[in-house]
Amino acid sequence: MSDWESCKLFFRSDPIKIIRAKGQYMYDEKGVKYLDCMNNVAHVGHCDDTVVKSCTEQMAVLNTNNRFLHDNLVLCAKRLTATLPDSLAVCYFVNSGSEANDLALRLARAYTKNEDIICLEHAYHGHLSSLINISPYKFEVGKFPKKDWVHVAPIPDVYRGKHRGDASPELGELYSSEVRDLIRDAESQGRKIGAFIAESAPSCGGQIMFPPGYLKSVYKHVREAGGVCIADEVQVGFGRVGTHWWAFQLQDVVPDIITVGKSMGNGHPVSAVVTTKEIAQSFRDIGMEYFNTFGGNPVSCAAALSVMEVVERDGLIAHAKATGDHTISLLNQLKPKHPNIGDVRGQGLFIGVELVEDRETKEPATALANHVITRLKESKILMSSDGPDRNVLKLKPPMVFNKEDANFFVSVLDEILTEIEE
Ligand SMILES: Cc1ncc(COP(=O)(O)O)c(C=O)c1O
Repeated sequence: MSDWESCKLFFRSDPIKIIRAKGQYMYDEKGVKYLDCMNNVAHVGHCDDTVVKSCTEQMAVLNTNNRFLHDNLVLCAKRLTATLPDSLAVCYFVNSGSEANDLALRLARAYTKNEDIICLEHAYHGHLSSLINISPYKFEVGKFPKKDWVHVAPIPDVYRGKHRGDASPELGELYSSEVRDLIRDAESQGRKIGAFIAESAPSCGGQIMFPPGYLKSVYKHVREAGGVCIADEVQVGFGRVGTHWWAFQLQDVVPDIITVGKSMGNGHPVSAVVTTKEIAQSFRDIGMEYFNTFGGNPVSCAAALSVMEVVERDGLIAHAKATGDHTISLLNQLKPKHPNIGDVRGQGLFIGVELVEDRETKEPATALANHVITRLKESKILMSSDGPDRNVLKLKPPMVFNKEDANFFVSVLDEILTEIEE
């Protein structure tokens, strides 16, 4: 292995050099056009005119750190909190999803005075040391020992997880009782829960949707144990699920802390932690003055403000719902034809297609998923796979992805699977 090989590169055996992009399309140095099904960061479309204009205009006037007053900071906090339940009222602006989750852990611990964290199997919450410890997706691969203060709950994957079946409230309850038992075990060893953290729809775990009632019941158990609940909305927030701004709203819960990132700046590095006044106050009570050199600078806030403006102005949440419903329906039509399609799931423009060798045994079709990704790329469609077995095709395109794009993707997928079967 060469020393650079630990740096991740898309399509390593035949990488592509992208030199420009617009909307949901990317172009390589030869002008070849690719349909982008993987960049949830370019949320309102690559190089969106409104975002580019507001960032460049602000860049030409002032960019400095947020220890000075600036209107953009206040406007951005107001616009962001207006999309959230009233209790989530205090924003901290940071530069990445990792910084947001690290700060969320610090806030949770300052408030609860408890150290322990519950996370889900296969979760990924960021690349800082603090987050690798609560990211089984990484610490298991790296074979790092799990820390004593980390408790890993079974992922509520109703297709392949510990409890299987239709996504019913019973399954929601069964999976949440796993968290309750984990808390009991931890307490019996004298440990105290600081926080439960989960993506509101686990993406790295394989595009999983929680069964009904899951988060509601988990949040109850965690709060009874003295912990707080953190919703990681870094991948799934900002309307991607098509019916709400935030994926936690699908579960009818109100987290104590949410973290947002990726899509917030449409490619500009801006992220945030939003929490309650009480939790923010506890941070101050321990004498902590939060400061972040780049977080919340006027240009970052201009980017975030314009992303929220475009989502609302262009009705992108409803668009995600309509396009997502259409895509899922097309994918479901492929299912009877192609036995390798084990499961189609998701909501809005957060969709997973789980490939299996055999529908009965559910043996993950990892090599097949790899092959499909390569063949899609040859057909100028960029897609990634995820899940612990990397057998889930992961659709998370810019929100301007439309029904024609869906028709194209599904017809090419149909051709590829047919070709394999023949
Ligand atoms: C769910 C989730 N949380 C946090 C992060 C970390 O975000 P960043 O890479 O911006 O630090 C990621 C990144 O992929 C993520 O998927």
